[in-house]
Amino acid sequence: MKQTSFKVLSNEKIAQNVYKMVLTGDTSAITSPGQFVNLLVDSCFLRRPISVCDVNDSELTLVYKVVGAGTKLMSKASAGDEFDTLTGLGNGYDLTKSGKTPLLLGGGVGVPPLYMLAKKLINEGKKVSVVLGFNTKSEVFYEDEFRALGSDVTVATADGSYGVKGFVTDALPDDYSYFYTCGPEPMLRAVFRTTSTSGQFSFEERMGCGFGACMGCSCKTVTGYKRICKEGPVLEKEEILWED
Ligand SMILES: Cc1cc2nc3c(=O)[nH]c(=O)nc-3n(C[C@H](O)[C@H](O)[C@H](O)COP(=O)(O)OP(=O)(O)OC[C@H]3O[C@@H](n4cnc5c(N)ncnc54)[C@H](O)[C@@H]3O)c2cc1C
Ligand code: FES
Repeated sequence: MKQTSFKVLSNEKIAQNVYKMVLTGDTSAITSPGQFVNLLVDSCFLRRPISVCDVNDSELTLVYKVVGAGTKLMSKASAGDEFDTLTGLGNGYDLTKSGKTPLLLGGGVGVPPLYMLAKKLINEGKKVSVVLGFNTKSEVFYEDEFRALGSDVTVATADGSYGVKGFVTDALPDDYSYFYTCGPEPMLRAVFRTTSTSGQFSFEERMGCGFGACMGCSCKTVTGYKRICKEGPVLEKEEILWED
């Protein structure tokens, strides 16, 4: 983990209530797709965790949905504004288990971390399939970006206004070697029930400190309690215990 300042280069709306923010700063602590950063947003007591969507030596891309006060303030930021940021948080996805034909399943704001993951897997020569799920057509984002990477992309919308009608689990390909997923909990539960291989789940739980100190994100797993911000947010399918 590193605490540093990131300066906004751009901040644009890319779908209904969804923004893409590109920042510049020290990205050296970010080592794996699925990690997140924790931004200090003016007047908000708790930092706001956002997944790394993409990163290079000096730039960080975040894609976020405006849901409350913190993300509303983020959407008002413009070029030159700065955010005090904790970077390199969380474990990230383990790419070594992907096999040759991994499947990536993202729902809503669970889509962004899968972009960096797809990029890395494709760079390793994997044949990547991606299923992106949204409520409705106006909320769809990053379909073209995933396709430009060279992945096979299917979009599902719950209301059928675009792509396959239904949820990501209604658009699963027949064959895949392994899966990686991120999205709202009902979607993750459905993915858990429907998938036929092992896989990894990223949980975007509500958080306190974001770096392992408060235990506010602790959850029970097959191998004992884990802090989603520190030993997660990525958990293996086999270690997940769903609480009713
Ligand atoms: C590891 C991690 C990665 C994340 N990555 C992204 C991302 O890439 N893009 C993105 O848009 N969002 C992401 N989130 C969710 C994001 O952190 C929250 O949406 C944000 O903190 C809300 O702040 P706010 O002040 O706008 O809303 P608040 O005023 O804090 O809350 C507004 C509403 O949203 C609900 N809410 C807030 N946070 C969450 C959450 N984590 N899960 C479910 N409901 C929540 C609240 O219950 C409330 O109903 C991530 C969360 C975690 C823990
Ligand atoms: S949010 Fe504090 S320990 Fe995870």
